[in-house]
Amino acid sequence: MSQSKSLLSSTARLRESEDIGSNASENPTIGDMIAARLNRRDLMRGALAVGAVSATLRIPAFAQAPAPTAKSAFNFVEIEAGSDEKHHVAQGYDADILIRWGDPVLPGAPAFDPTKQTAAGQKLQFGYNNDYVGFLPMPGAADPSSHGLLVVNHEYTNEELMFPGIGGRQELKQANFANMTKDLVDIEMAAHGGSVLEIKRENGKWQIVPGSKYARRITAETPIALSGPAAGDARLKTSADPDGKTVHGMVNNCSGGVTPWGTWLTCEENFNGYFWGAADGHPDEKVLKRYGAPANQYAWGKYYDRFDIAKERNEINRFGWIVEIDPFDPTSTPKKRTALGRVKHEAAAGITARDGRYVVYTGDDERFDYVYKFVTEGRVDSQNRAANMDLLDRGTLYVAKYNADGSGEWLPLVHGQGKLTAENGFASQADVLIHLRLAGDAVGATKMDRPEDVEANPKTGKVYVMLTNNTRRTDAQIDAANPRANNRFGHIVEMTPADGDHAATAFRWDILVKAGDHTVATTNASFNPATTKNGWFGMPDNLAVDNQGRVWIATDGNSPAKTGRADGLWAIETEGPLRGTSKHFFRVPAGAEMCGPFFTPNDETLFLAVQHPGEADEDDPKAPPATFEQPATRWPDFKDGVPPRPSLVVVTKTGGGKIAV
Ligand code: FEO
Ligand code: CA
Ligand code: CA
Ligand code: CA
Repeated sequence: MSQSKSLLSSTARLRESEDIGSNASENPTIGDMIAARLNRRDLMRGALAVGAVSATLRIPAFAQAPAPTAKSAFNFVEIEAGSDEKHHVAQGYDADILIRWGDPVLPGAPAFDPTKQTAAGQKLQFGYNNDYVGFLPMPGAADPSSHGLLVVNHEYTNEELMFPGIGGRQELKQANFANMTKDLVDIEMAAHGGSVLEIKRENGKWQIVPGSKYARRITAETPIALSGPAAGDARLKTSADPDGKTVHGMVNNCSGGVTPWGTWLTCEENFNGYFWGAADGHPDEKVLKRYGAPANQYAWGKYYDRFDIAKERNEINRFGWIVEIDPFDPTSTPKKRTALGRVKHEAAAGITARDGRYVVYTGDDERFDYVYKFVTEGRVDSQNRAANMDLLDRGTLYVAKYNADGSGEWLPLVHGQGKLTAENGFASQADVLIHLRLAGDAVGATKMDRPEDVEANPKTGKVYVMLTNNTRRTDAQIDAANPRANNRFGHIVEMTPADGDHAATAFRWDILVKAGDHTVATTNASFNPATTKNGWFGMPDNLAVDNQGRVWIATDGNSPAKTGRADGLWAIETEGPLRGTSKHFFRVPAGAEMCGPFFTPNDETLFLAVQHPGEADEDDPKAPPATFEQPATRWPDFKDGVPPRPSLVVVTKTGGGKIAV
């Protein structure tokens, strides 16, 4: 095995497709509004930011520590920030492995054997890189927090960690995936998608119900219907599907959500990575480039014409959607809901508006891309599940504009309104939806620092936007909502809908926290000074709101080289004098990112997803390339010859009780 340094770890591979920053539109940055609004909190604290444009000169917010009597909303002793081969949870809690990549999901699944992998086996086994995790209580269960369905996304695959003898990611790509046989590609395709698991808590411990009728695997080959306004559009038709209404598979399903009517929303994010070819000279060159496509990150195009844009022009238009799945009916056909638009969807977290319409928030994870929401036309019917099943096919899609004065507006993305007309290239609502990034450009949305999860807190009505980082933002491009150039550590924007109405088109916004080490002035981070050296984090990605309305943040991109800590889960105060204080609760093993925080209704169980353990630290130039033979950790099995395995972790309080109470 070559020991040459991996210049492109698999995280880097993912980022390469996430981070291209393909937004060349002229939507405003601070260049247009240089008299930037000071963060309201900065003003309250009297931190007058001279000129307000120099990230490094700004005086951090929260210059004063809160009174020592201020009471934390979270009762636990935080863990040490750091990184090693294991996971760590706060003292007094159990963190048990529920299921690992390769464990059985469906009857007949072979036992996991990394030297005897097959696509047929993988289709019956738990997939790779678990990201979103949602829990849906079993209707009629005696205790809705002890029995239900777990829905899990399998975002992507790390072939260099999955398969023996194929080398590191950089070598693979340099060799144009020469080592990736069709058999290996088929295993990868089967390891994508999602899993549905029935789980029960008995005697305090969670178990997967064997032989459950609900158990299901969705893969990159499962038939999925296209529904909503763009279904059947000419650009969704392919040689295999002349009707433009059925796609095989979903890919790069990052985060998601669950609905009050008991369905699972799962988001296709970096779909561009799966396609081969070149945008230059392609008939769809302009829009392909706006989506950073194709990115040639997998070998699928070598064996499947549909993943080669030169051979099948439209297949790529059939990815990048939010998919709705009914996990209570394992025979149901998943649906790509085109009304919610086509971007690199990070997540889809919803909330019922005051008048009963359902609102789904979603971010487009790319440098300088946008935050969206969708408001259904119909209302949620809590008495009639069937009446809700196609609610997401009709409604209004909006994109966010953050003004410098702390106000904001949701701009409608409706064909015929404003600039979304035929003369500007939008001849139909299908045009708007399939080329949603172009529609966002046209209406003047605010270019953000990589929007990841966007989720409402039902207790306060506030909406939190994770902006993970954007190292390409320049001083000339900073704006009030994205106030740091070279934003290495990301920030969190808090939005307050007008009159507390999630269907409203007006909102106010503020910055909850600018991430990074707040004790280093040049970082210009803004954690509350009550935050300890373990308590700060970088690169917020997912969030969960527990049933008490407390906010928890999962990160992606911390590393010993970048922040002196692994990724993990932090609890963050959002109200009162401790607002902006975060505390470290859980950390992942080397190379992993933290995904999927989700609480049961009683807050006694926290589901976590540990994704891509064993990857090399891409920010450490001395880190050797990670391979099957030489991973950064062998978590969670720690057996020679067994590679690291992405796994779900179940956190409960030792002896029972609500978490962090
Ligand atoms: Fe898959 Fe944007 O993280
Ligand atoms: Ca992820
Ligand atoms: Ca993510
Ligand atoms: Ca991420």
